[in-house]
Amino acid sequence: MKICVIGTGYVGLVTGTCLAETGNTVICVDNDKSKILSLKNGVIPIYEPELEEFVKKNIKEKRLTFTTDIQEGVNPSQIIFICVSTPPRADGSADLSFVENVARSIALYMNEYKIIIDKSTVPVETGQRVEETIKRQLKDKNIEFDVVSNPEFLREGSAIHDSMKPDRIVIGVSSQKAADILTRLYEPFQAKIIITNIKSAEIIKHASNSFLATKISFINEVSRICELSGANIEEVALGMGLDPRIGRQFLQTGIGYGGSCFPKDVSAFIKISEELGYDFKILKAVEKVNAEQIEFFIKKIEKTLWIIKDKKITVWGLAFKPDTDDMRNAPSIQIIEALVKDGAEIHAYDPVAMEKARSVLPEDVVFHDDIYSSLQGSEALVIATEWEDFKNADLDRVMALMEQPIVVDGRNIFDPSLMKEKGFMYTSIGR
Ligand code: UGA
Repeated sequence: MKICVIGTGYVGLVTGTCLAETGNTVICVDNDKSKILSLKNGVIPIYEPELEEFVKKNIKEKRLTFTTDIQEGVNPSQIIFICVSTPPRADGSADLSFVENVARSIALYMNEYKIIIDKSTVPVETGQRVEETIKRQLKDKNIEFDVVSNPEFLREGSAIHDSMKPDRIVIGVSSQKAADILTRLYEPFQAKIIITNIKSAEIIKHASNSFLATKISFINEVSRICELSGANIEEVALGMGLDPRIGRQFLQTGIGYGGSCFPKDVSAFIKISEELGYDFKILKAVEKVNAEQIEFFIKKIEKTLWIIKDKKITVWGLAFKPDTDDMRNAPSIQIIEALVKDGAEIHAYDPVAMEKARSVLPEDVVFHDDIYSSLQGSEALVIATEWEDFKNADLDRVMALMEQPIVVDGRNIFDPSLMKEKGFMYTSIGR
């Protein structure tokens, strides 16, 4: 099939690439000229395992092309994916102006029947708005089209895997014709396909991310009770998670959820609920707990170190989670800003996110190319992201390099009894 993907962020680039991989002809459109130029040469602007080889392979096999010209993408394509960003506004609602602009442009260049798919995460009723926008823009032109909601569930760090082997594909449609075409498009992915109405599909996405965020805030609150009572959150999470109704995933306590999705989507879901006349009480608590969790961790560092001023503190992990260089809403930013404000000298290391981190972290942060050099003479090590490299670190070397063997672990990557045995003063979350 001939496909156009508008927006080459995580969702657009991965969607376009995976659909090319399954044999379709895909044109990816973005108005960022330098990005498109890089992509044409197979240079990927984000760190995402497997993505580069998939992009290069599909460019070479001529199934994947890139352009800044939206008309060039829309004209020959029967299926058009809208994958532009939907950033949060100051009040927490989703800013849908990019979606509206793209819908107008699509209408402008529509020449025959098209399926317009919303893949960006959007509040319920956006599909309806997109349809109205296109209809208005088409004016008297009698061109048939269908709007579909087909939310994306990929995670950064395993985007290709998640897209090639999805656990479900949700297709929100109002026409059988569109449902049939999309079922055929997604056949090669051999996943469970759920056909719903457009609004249900939109809510499935917001509700899924919000539910996962709820699990995280819930376990973070339980970890506080564990700490107050002397229980161990890792044991508690394991004991809970083995109940298949609860499940083990997303019960990892830490310093709260970050990234470009959960904070934005929870706020947007609260906001759209409010607009529809409902006060989403649980989600408001989820947000509050998440904000408090990182403050709690910063206080923990301060309490452990007593005086922060002039201390040399190492921070391991800058990206919001492992296997990505994404710094959007990374907890490391808030932690480092607070420590810098208190007068600390920060030495930072991340396996892949340092380049992006440089532009968002305070300028006096010292970046190290090597995990161990970041520890030389350090008076405390703060762990903000659970990269495998950190879990496998040589603890004797860590001990030898540090001025003071203090470790404050926001991700519970080490065994407290092992750390004690090695002579560290080790503090983690909820145990
Ligand atoms: C999330 C969802 O998991 C995807 O299904 C969804 O498609 C995506 O948002 C999106 O809407 O685009 P992502 O933001 O890549 O994916 O990251 P996650 O792996 O879900 O982690 C989100 C945050 O939760 C991270 O800050 C992570 O550290 C935190 N987390 C996750 C925990 O604190 N504990 C856990 O047990 C799991």
